[in-house]
Amino acid sequence: MKKPAEGRIIINEAGRGLWPILAEIFGQSFDEPWPLASIKNLMAPTGCWALIAEFANDEILYPCGFALARAVGEEAELLSMGVIPEFRRRGVASSIMRALASQALHRGARAIFLEVGVDNFPAKHLYRMSGYVEVGRRENYYRRANRELVDALVMKVVL
Ligand SMILES: CC(C)(COP(=O)(O)OP(=O)(O)OC[C@H]1O[C@@H](n2cnc3c(N)ncnc32)[C@H](O)[C@@H]1OP(=O)(O)O)[C@@H](O)C(=O)NCCC(=O)NCCS
Repeated sequence: MKKPAEGRIIINEAGRGLWPILAEIFGQSFDEPWPLASIKNLMAPTGCWALIAEFANDEILYPCGFALARAVGEEAELLSMGVIPEFRRRGVASSIMRALASQALHRGARAIFLEVGVDNFPAKHLYRMSGYVEVGRRENYYRRANRELVDALVMKVVL
């Protein structure tokens, strides 16, 4: 896709009708197919919701980012997020993180937790820039495509 030079970032909640688009964005963000059924499974527990980011340019909306989250009681969790490569480094993920914080607060959460691979430098930067701090580490939590096991950092932001 040829990316537009300039535009506005719009973040909205994504109801079920938009989940096929989220599956597409997910697949492009992580460079692996992500079936709609997996999104349905992830979103099945109570308290889950999804966000979609669009890049708006000259009346055209480009769906380019997503987040899946869950809020139960005073704790929320970022389950997954991503931005398709052509739209990175334009503040899309930062906008998603701000919307996520405001929506989690609105749902009664007082903190958001997430896990990120120790080798995922862009995401670690993003989360630190968004106010998250490390509160734990899970050993050998992710298995990468090359079969290597990678630790996850647990990060938290107080809302
Ligand atoms: C991580 C990711 C979501 C960032 O999306 P993005 O829209 O490019 O992020 P933003 O433009 O909002 O960047 C915000 C800040 O994050 C940091 N950041 C983002 N990408 C970075 C990179 N490649 N290297 C270093 N820092 C980076 C920077 O501090 C950046 O601010 P700056 O551009 O002013 O320097 C995106 O790279 C992605 O989808 N990666 C693959 C999926 C993934 O890893 N998801 C997270 C799983 S836990």
